[in-house]
Amino acid sequence: MDLTREEQAILDGEEGESRQKAMELVTALGKIYGAEDLIDITSAHLSGASYKTIGDGGLKYLEDMAAGGAKVSVPSTLNPVGMDRDRWREMHITPEFAEKQLRIIDLYGEMGVQKTCSCTPYTGANVPSLGDHVAWAESSALSFVNSFIGARTNREGGPGALAAAILGKTANYGLHLDEKRKPTVVIDADIDGSVFSYSMLGQAVGMAIGTGIPYFRGISPETEEAKTLSAAMAAAGSVALWHAEGATPEAGSFDVSDLEVIHIGKPELEAAYSKLNTVDDVQLIALGCPHLTEKEMHQIAAFLKGKRKVNKDVEIWFCTSAEVRAKCPEDVKVMEEFGPVLADTCMVVAPIEGAFQRTGTNSAKAGNYLPTLCSQKAMVRDVSALLEVVM
Ligand code: F3S
Repeated sequence: MDLTREEQAILDGEEGESRQKAMELVTALGKIYGAEDLIDITSAHLSGASYKTIGDGGLKYLEDMAAGGAKVSVPSTLNPVGMDRDRWREMHITPEFAEKQLRIIDLYGEMGVQKTCSCTPYTGANVPSLGDHVAWAESSALSFVNSFIGARTNREGGPGALAAAILGKTANYGLHLDEKRKPTVVIDADIDGSVFSYSMLGQAVGMAIGTGIPYFRGISPETEEAKTLSAAMAAAGSVALWHAEGATPEAGSFDVSDLEVIHIGKPELEAAYSKLNTVDDVQLIALGCPHLTEKEMHQIAAFLKGKRKVNKDVEIWFCTSAEVRAKCPEDVKVMEEFGPVLADTCMVVAPIEGAFQRTGTNSAKAGNYLPTLCSQKAMVRDVSALLEVVM
């Protein structure tokens, strides 16, 4: 790889061990993927924040990085952690877990990372612009910023994103390059336009293509639909970028006339639904994957207002960012009659398997990960069908 004199000096250890380690990782990734050089980034979003997912090994890695003086050099945000910082007891979390989780957040803070822990930082804390090069982990968020905003990031892992954040640079390959952002398949979508239909569409497309860059026709996503679609395709397949005719900023730049066309309609959506639903009764209903936006908080509160929770055996969690929770006090009041509005955590990265075996969600992404990462049987329905379970 072509490194500048300054980059080579970092690699040679002239700026300390933590920057050297970061450069070793970023250049190693660059060599694997054929990057010719490094590129400056404007922001990073880091995964690897939950004690459940990184364990003691990850905690030790962060202790070492922080002790070595590692500091991020671009605005950087953090993914959801394993518990609400204040309300972890309501999540059946043990004090031992809580202590280690709080330590992880503090270590990221020492490195200069903003301690907002959300998978939707693009709605407030960390908003890239069209054409920005960034280094984002969190498959749903990076797909959203790639696709709906037109920023440029590869599918970074936790350590790779942290290394890039420390350097303010990443290896210049893959989705940072114009030619790698071209669509690979046209998806002719026939859905009803509800947010839940976008979730099932993403599941069906992920199942149909696995990987690639879909170019959608027949959809008009706004923020909530785009976040749901991004999350579902990233979980059911490994899609990190998609375009939608008339709706995403780069879609108009491609000629897709020679691409294969796949139709996704009722039979494919039903197959997606069947794959995700493995149980009909649940102990926990968890909404907010990806994290609830202000609009979704308003919608849920409006749906719940004046109703009562009758089935006390089923717990409900609403997951959002601390920022959104603070902006919606009236909604929170209504929602808290049904269950806690939890900040900066979610049903997948929290250790729910200690307390539950069957969980309901409206998210295809959570529907994929609840069985594999949380030993749950899953029920995946739209929000109103889920909430009616407890009324
Ligand atoms: Fe976010 Fe957790 Fe879903 S990190 S995308 S709410 S699995």
